[in-house]
Amino acid sequence: MSRKYNIITYGCQMNEHDSENIAGLLESMGYEHCDDPYKADVTVINTCSVRENADKRFFGTLGQFKKIRKNDPNFVLAVCGCMPQQPRVVEEINKRFSWVDIVFGTQNISEFPDLLEERLRTGRRMRSIIDNNPDINEDDMKPVRMHRHKALVNITYGCNNFCTYCIVPYTRGREKSRPLSVICNEIKSLVPDGVIEVMLLGQNVDSYRDMAGNSFADLIRAVNDIDGIERIRFMTSHPKDISDDMIECFNTCPKLCHNIHLPVQSGSDRILKRMNRHYDRSQYLAIVDKLRSVCPDITISTDIIVGFPGENDEDFEETLDIAKKVRYDSAFTFIYSPREGTPAAKFEDQIPDSVCHERFDRLVDVMNSISYEKNQEYKGKIYEVIPEGISEKDAHTISGRTDGFKLVNFTSDKSPEKLMGRKVKVMITESKTFSLEGVEVSD
Ligand code: 5AD
Ligand code: SF4
Repeated sequence: MSRKYNIITYGCQMNEHDSENIAGLLESMGYEHCDDPYKADVTVINTCSVRENADKRFFGTLGQFKKIRKNDPNFVLAVCGCMPQQPRVVEEINKRFSWVDIVFGTQNISEFPDLLEERLRTGRRMRSIIDNNPDINEDDMKPVRMHRHKALVNITYGCNNFCTYCIVPYTRGREKSRPLSVICNEIKSLVPDGVIEVMLLGQNVDSYRDMAGNSFADLIRAVNDIDGIERIRFMTSHPKDISDDMIECFNTCPKLCHNIHLPVQSGSDRILKRMNRHYDRSQYLAIVDKLRSVCPDITISTDIIVGFPGENDEDFEETLDIAKKVRYDSAFTFIYSPREGTPAAKFEDQIPDSVCHERFDRLVDVMNSISYEKNQEYKGKIYEVIPEGISEKDAHTISGRTDGFKLVNFTSDKSPEKLMGRKVKVMITESKTFSLEGVEVSD
């Protein structure tokens, strides 16, 4: 009987893609995927440490494996991702969670098969964490992709920005760009497997620059030239590095989706400075204007943190104000969470929880009503949607995304299998805050 694996993934799309690579490594060792992490022979927990609740969830999950490991000494539990890049976390795992067999970092995923084999051979606990690995690459990986028709593709690793609240530069190391030719070859190799959409991933895609001097705009143009690829997306953009050349790609590259995720974090110049973001609100608004003048139907989403240390009522009003000025299509809103080792965690003027929650609720109300209003404009119109799956709530409903990344749940008289992996036309019949509803009208 073949051995089984499961991977539990927390956090961002980089983590999701790392999990796809880990799945590929396990399958090349002969393991087969199983749906239940408690019934597998090997379970990997791929962790996130961007906010504190991710921490808590992770340690809670570890606790649940104690019994499994006790009942089955052959069961292997591995932990990877951003959490173990922090020495205090590895110490805590060693002290309190002795049933964790393998711990490895974000920058040495390719070592996992060796660590697993060594653990199976010797029974020893394996730990391997590397900081700032100059050789980090995934060029020989064969990921098991979560989606058949769209692929996550890393273009950079790590981050050099050191926003004062953020743990990522410490857990993912310094920024490194993959060569344009390697990225394009990877994407070309995906087309015969049915991939028509790529999501180019980096903590700050706009600072992409490879050894040959290619910029992010050069990369988009090169991907746009790849036959068989129909949609190009990317995330995340940093307002301080976004270039006019890149913005122009919305005009010149027909495959580039009319959508951008442009985190603003705060609308207050004072707070943006304390966050070390290197732009102010007027510069941010000028970028939005430029994007909309080049690409009038572009959809814009953002990330916003409330309750950053020192944020006063006026600062928060400025955040509400910028949100109303930009009128975002959607937003991820977060309460500031102090991360040990980051500068902001040591700032003295931390904001009380009650104030954070009150501001958070007000912000969410504003963002949701803008999203709802913006979505009303879609009603009665026809959009191209690429179906991605069957709705979780209803087996007769297919869900997919518009070019602008709007989630559409729609019905069709054709079988879902027939529609997957190609653009279909959908008439929008109902607009909600977070999704649209419609019927397929392709001929
Ligand atoms: N507290 C709250 N939100 C954070 N983010 C990053 N670090 C923190 C933190 N310490 C948010 C930012 C970022 C998104 C991925 O997570 O908004 O853009
Ligand atoms: Fe974190 Fe800032 Fe880097 Fe984004 S750009 S990963 S928020 S340090």
